[in-house]
Amino acid sequence: MNVETKVSPSNLLAKDPDWWRGAVIYQIYPRSFQDSNGDGIGDLAGITQRLPYIADLGVDAIWISPFFTSPMKDFGYDVSNYCDVDPMFGNLADFDAMLSKAHDLGLKVMIDLVLSHTSDQHPWFTQSRADRTNDKADWYVWADPQPDGTPPNNWLSIFGGSAWQWDARRLQYYLHNFLTSQPDLNFHTPAVQDALLDVARFWLDRGVDGFRLDTINFYVHDARLRNNPPLAEADRNSTIAPAVNPYNHQDHHFDKNQPENLDFLRRLRGVMNPYNAAAVGEVGDAQRGLEILGEYTAGDDLMHMCYAFEFLANARPDGAEIQGVMDRLHKVAPDGWPCWAFSNHDVQRHASRWDLDTAGLRAMVTLMMCLRGSACIYQGEELGLGEADVAYEDLQDPYGLEFWPEFKGRDGCRTPMVWESQGENAGFGAGKPWLPVGASHTALAADTQSKDPTSLHAHYRAAIGLRRGSDVLQKGDQSPIQLSGSVLTFTRSLGQRTLWCAFNLGAETAPLPAPPDGAWADLAAPGASAAAHTLDAWAFCIMENRDG
Ligand code: BGC
Ligand code: MG
Repeated sequence: MNVETKVSPSNLLAKDPDWWRGAVIYQIYPRSFQDSNGDGIGDLAGITQRLPYIADLGVDAIWISPFFTSPMKDFGYDVSNYCDVDPMFGNLADFDAMLSKAHDLGLKVMIDLVLSHTSDQHPWFTQSRADRTNDKADWYVWADPQPDGTPPNNWLSIFGGSAWQWDARRLQYYLHNFLTSQPDLNFHTPAVQDALLDVARFWLDRGVDGFRLDTINFYVHDARLRNNPPLAEADRNSTIAPAVNPYNHQDHHFDKNQPENLDFLRRLRGVMNPYNAAAVGEVGDAQRGLEILGEYTAGDDLMHMCYAFEFLANARPDGAEIQGVMDRLHKVAPDGWPCWAFSNHDVQRHASRWDLDTAGLRAMVTLMMCLRGSACIYQGEELGLGEADVAYEDLQDPYGLEFWPEFKGRDGCRTPMVWESQGENAGFGAGKPWLPVGASHTALAADTQSKDPTSLHAHYRAAIGLRRGSDVLQKGDQSPIQLSGSVLTFTRSLGQRTLWCAFNLGAETAPLPAPPDGAWADLAAPGASAAAHTLDAWAFCIMENRDG
């Protein structure tokens, strides 16, 4: 027979519609990953060049932050054409080449769809703002002023000020949850939903494996535009800029989190199912995040997973905090599926935020690989990069410019990836990078660490490998966490098989509690002394039950 069948790793993976459950996803911030053409800005061809590095880490998938046509007021989270690539990142052919190489390497590709709002330069908005009678007049959220000329209600923008911007042509306000140049789409208009589902189809037909969906709980607003109630000071626990941003003084009951949101998520899931594609929805809500995660990932007709903010907080989660999060998750989302992250393009890098040394970083990522849920790793965290200090003159992020210096914005976690300890701009590219390379980062470059079996990078590979090699860790149930001093223990189980995990999240040696009855063998136990029944500072011990 002369029929050639292409069996690549991705073809094999594609047969498992559950591929996302327990997956490890590597987040790429394309502006800062690899510049291939010397313009100082990372691009799709640069990503393609570095895909082998990512595949070598052993992750299942990549999530690429937005690369669509955009005026870049919010660095791509303001889209002016959903179905094309911004010229600074390349073109659709570059995208196809990147996708095909990723698939050849066995990596799934998730792209970042920003459906809640567009750029004010999107032709939909240009038309919508022209007058009150055009075909797209109700594609955005327009509202008359109050009799005294002030905005329709008390809703606030996350990036500062009222969520309403006056438009002199329509003599109305329009809603924006972020920048004034990011007008909010009106999901109460059926044609808007249809157009966005077409966007999802466009990329699925091109071959993407899934989506990271930006701000999914912001899609639908209260059609009656009711005021948000105030939030008591004790409850203002936002992970980002909690104190300086009055957005955190409101209970966001009406500007987001509306019940009709579920109808759209169901439609979107219906579009994704035939492709075995998976979605991780970003739920931004400082008070009800886990509850919404539970609601949006329950059953199998909404989101596959939701991105959890719990471990993105400023304070390092200690054993009690982790125990509390997992208990609460079990209560409010018994069959839900979280996707954990410690760092991303919106928060200070956790090496600095939690002031962790290498031993702490090792323990924390191993713990993330052992917790029930999927996991996102942000470019550079595998190198232990800390938050870069970006001078005011170099600031780019409008969020930082608004609240500086009390909140310095998000540039410090968006500086270029460091590839070479000796090369120009640490191997990021020949041109002056759009943000400076972090001063302390070059010494941690990928080329040095990937040759060193004792490096943090090598540990990330091993921890990811541990997860990847165990369907118990990927998909199994998790017992409630037990705490004994700084040591946290729990089991994961699937069918007859059980793993027992113990982590010392403290800087002192601590007693190693006894595992439940059974015959246990070590899977990974650096720094654990079974004979002395102790765990060194930040040591862990993962054992497998050999009874079954
Ligand atoms: C993204 C941010 C972005 C915002 C508005 C998010 O949560 O992660 O980077 O500024 O949505 O699109
Ligand atoms: Mg470039």
